[in-house]
Amino acid sequence: MSEIAVVPDVAGAAAELFIEATAGAIAARGRAAVGLTGGSTASPLYAELVRSQKIPWDKLQIFFTDERAVPPDHELSNYRIARQELFDKTPIDSRQVHRLRGEAKDLEAEAQRAARESREALGIPPRLDLMLLGLGPDGHILSLFAGVPSSADRGDEELVRHVKAPEHVEPKVERITLTPFLLVTARTVVLQVKGASKAAVLAKAMKGANDLVGCPAQWLRKAAGRAVVVCDEEAAKDL
Ligand code: 6PG
Repeated sequence: MSEIAVVPDVAGAAAELFIEATAGAIAARGRAAVGLTGGSTASPLYAELVRSQKIPWDKLQIFFTDERAVPPDHELSNYRIARQELFDKTPIDSRQVHRLRGEAKDLEAEAQRAARESREALGIPPRLDLMLLGLGPDGHILSLFAGVPSSADRGDEELVRHVKAPEHVEPKVERITLTPFLLVTARTVVLQVKGASKAAVLAKAMKGANDLVGCPAQWLRKAAGRAVVVCDEEAAKDL
C-alpha cells in the first residue's frame, strides 16, 4: 500500500525522505544505494540535497533510474543534470556514480553492461535502498512508457533494459531504463508529482483498474518496500 503525502513543498519533503532512507541504510549496511530520476523533479530535489548538512555523501552509491540516448554532456542527459547540480556541488566522487551510458552505439549491449555493474554493486538479491521517480504525462515511470507491452514485464533477469524512442512523450529519444524488478525490490520508493496536469494520471496510477501497460506507474502498487507518493494539492485533486 503506497503512502500519499500531500505537501506544499514537494522537493523539501522528498529531501527529508532521502535523508531518512539513506541514513537507515547506512546505519544498517554502511552505505546507501540510490537511484536518481530525470524529469522536472530532479533539479529542485538536488537543490534541497545540496543545502542539507545531514548527508554522508561518501557513503552513497549513485545509480540512475533511466537515461536518454545522448552523450553525458547533452542538454537532455539525466546524468548531466545530476553532475552539474549535485555531484559538482558535493563531495560525491565519480567512483560512487554508476552511469547509464546513453552515448553507447549499441544500447542493448549497454543495458547488459549496466545490469552486470548493478548486480556487482548491489549484491544478491540486487536491491536499491532508495529509488526516486517522476510521473510522466502518459502514466510512465522509469522509461516504462504507456502502451508498450514490455512495460508490464518485471524484468527480473534483465535489471536494465533498452527502450525504443516513445512516440507520444518528449523527448522522443531512445532510453535505457531500470526494469520494474528494482522498483519492486527497493527498500524505499519516492514518486514526486506536481501540478494539475498530472492529477488524472496520478489517480489512474493509484486507484485505476489494474493495467500495467496502460499505466506503468501502477508498478508502485507492487512495491515490496516503502512506497511514498509526494505530491502537491493540484496533483492530488483526483485522489
Ligand atoms: C526521464 C525520466 C522520467 C520522468 C518522467 C516525469 O528521463 O524523463 O526519468 O521517468 O521522471 O517523465 O517527468 P516530468 O516530471 O518532467 O514530467
